[in-house]
Amino acid sequence: MSTDSSPETEIDISKKEILISSSEINQRVAQLGKEISADYQGRELHLVGVLNGAFIFLADLVRQINIPCQICFLQASSYKDQKVSSGEVTLMHNLDLRGKDVLVVEDIFDTGLTLKYVMEDLLRQKPNSIEACSLLNKKIPNKAEVTVKYIGFDIEDRFVVGYGLDFAERYREVPHIACLD
Ligand code: IMP
Repeated sequence: MSTDSSPETEIDISKKEILISSSEINQRVAQLGKEISADYQGRELHLVGVLNGAFIFLADLVRQINIPCQICFLQASSYKDQKVSSGEVTLMHNLDLRGKDVLVVEDIFDTGLTLKYVMEDLLRQKPNSIEACSLLNKKIPNKAEVTVKYIGFDIEDRFVVGYGLDFAERYREVPHIACLD
């Protein structure tokens, strides 16, 4: 009997190039956790994960941070099942971050439109401080003007999945970063 025959189901992810292994990710996430803990020593950090892509990164990162933290999420979407950004960002949250020290946690800083939009939105709540942390930074020209203080890895302009990142909601569970192109 035939099952789902959409093209995505035919991709054999185990045959795709591994760009960043899970042990490389673990090492880098531990370093980031140390750096962030040192920078926010004596303060309570409010981590805001950008769903869906940042859920695994945030879960691992928070366990490498050794200062008091609160964790919350907002939902952002801009890709709508495609490999190229639609350029339109929609946000959903009911956060109240007034006076808080906020670290926005993102899976990938590509065009930067999402992060710029998120940072501008959260800034309106008048946090005490706000910074961004992204696991990946795609090296592309003409990125949106937004400062990302903590970056896990710089990567070339390729479409990647795994460790929370998807293509049409698939491959988020893959433990490493793989290239789909
Ligand atoms: P930006 O607004 O172009 O920076 O894109 C940010 C969002 O697009 C990320 O949070 C991801 O969800 C998604 N995205 C960008 N590049 C990739 C990719 O290579 N693989 C999977 N998702 C991506």
